[in-house]
Amino acid sequence: MIYRRFGRTNWNISEIGYGMWGMGGWTESDDLQSAGSLDLAVEKGVTFFDTAWGYGEGHSEKLLGELVRRHPGTKLFTASKIPPKNFRWPAKPEYRFEDSYPAAHIFEYTDKTLKNLGLDQIDLMQFHTWDDGWAHCEEWQRATEDLKKSGKIAAMGISMNRWEPENGIEALKTGVLDAVQVIYNIFDQAPEDVLFPLCEKLEIGVIARVPFDEGTLTGNITKETTFPDGDWRATYFVPENLMASAEKADALRPLVPQAMTMAEMALRFITMNNTVSTIIPGMRKAKNVVMNTSLSDGKGLPEALYHELRKHRWDRQPTSWSQ
Ligand SMILES: NC(=O)c1ccc[n+]([C@@H]2O[C@H](COP(=O)([O-])OP(=O)(O)OC[C@H]3O[C@@H](n4cnc5c(N)ncnc54)[C@H](OP(=O)(O)O)[C@@H]3O)[C@@H](O)[C@H]2O)c1
Repeated sequence: MIYRRFGRTNWNISEIGYGMWGMGGWTESDDLQSAGSLDLAVEKGVTFFDTAWGYGEGHSEKLLGELVRRHPGTKLFTASKIPPKNFRWPAKPEYRFEDSYPAAHIFEYTDKTLKNLGLDQIDLMQFHTWDDGWAHCEEWQRATEDLKKSGKIAAMGISMNRWEPENGIEALKTGVLDAVQVIYNIFDQAPEDVLFPLCEKLEIGVIARVPFDEGTLTGNITKETTFPDGDWRATYFVPENLMASAEKADALRPLVPQAMTMAEMALRFITMNNTVSTIIPGMRKAKNVVMNTSLSDGKGLPEALYHELRKHRWDRQPTSWSQ
């Protein structure tokens, strides 16, 4: 496992981190399987774990707390997120700050997270949604400073809305935030335009999420794919998105080198970017942990393939189904 610096926190965290949404209650999630996969990830050198209160109303956070207690000798970095007070994802410009992250709500949910984790301090807390219209609101800035002073959080970040990698730039410029979580993958290269150069300048840690485009970049999604009732992806891969995504994935298939899967190519693509501090694939199955951790070998991708893949950038606009 290769370790990278997490912005000005100076933490050295694993290049491959762990996304814990799926194990919070997607259909077919199984706590025993999840715990086994998490332990395996620690064994493979993963030290950064991303969860949220919203992943099963604290269920995923509890799994993370148990993991930390099972590995007392290893520093595992814990990251979670405060849900917006109106429980609406993603944030919209018309949502008022008072209905999203008033200080009392920030404190209340930080305490809930710490209780779920069974810890006195979380390494990184994040706002689960963001609208930059709130950037200059002093209330969240003061609440963040208070939480740091009290020792309940070590660092604070924002998780940016899907396909809006510049909706958070003003908040980052305030200097109060230490990290940003953003969708970045073969399709979603837009964070490179403005966000990543700013993160370099301000020494903001970068968490690259959704490396497989929710599954498209594993190569397993086709025009015929269906999802079981209750699986949120059924609401995301609506016919319009499923068709377009399957076509984009098909265009990549001829580029996947022999002895490599599309998922491996997708993760290696992200490791080629030096601004990214950690990549957090969602994983419940052990075989995915084994594969994803094994490619942190410093080899990345051949330059010619990397440049070819850059042409597959796909800029999308948030829509009614994009969430
Ligand atoms: N607003 C936000 O802040 C926000 C939103 C979305 C996601 N996130 C974070 O980002 C993380 C990653 O996003 P995600 O989980 O939605 O999507 P993702 O990482 O793009 O895809 C996860 C899916 O890929 C599968 N997978 C993992 N490794 C694989 C491999 N090597 N080969 C084939 N399939 C593989 C997983 O299967 P199994 O689960 O069955 O192992 C899971 O179904 C989340 O877990 C969460 O921590 C944050």
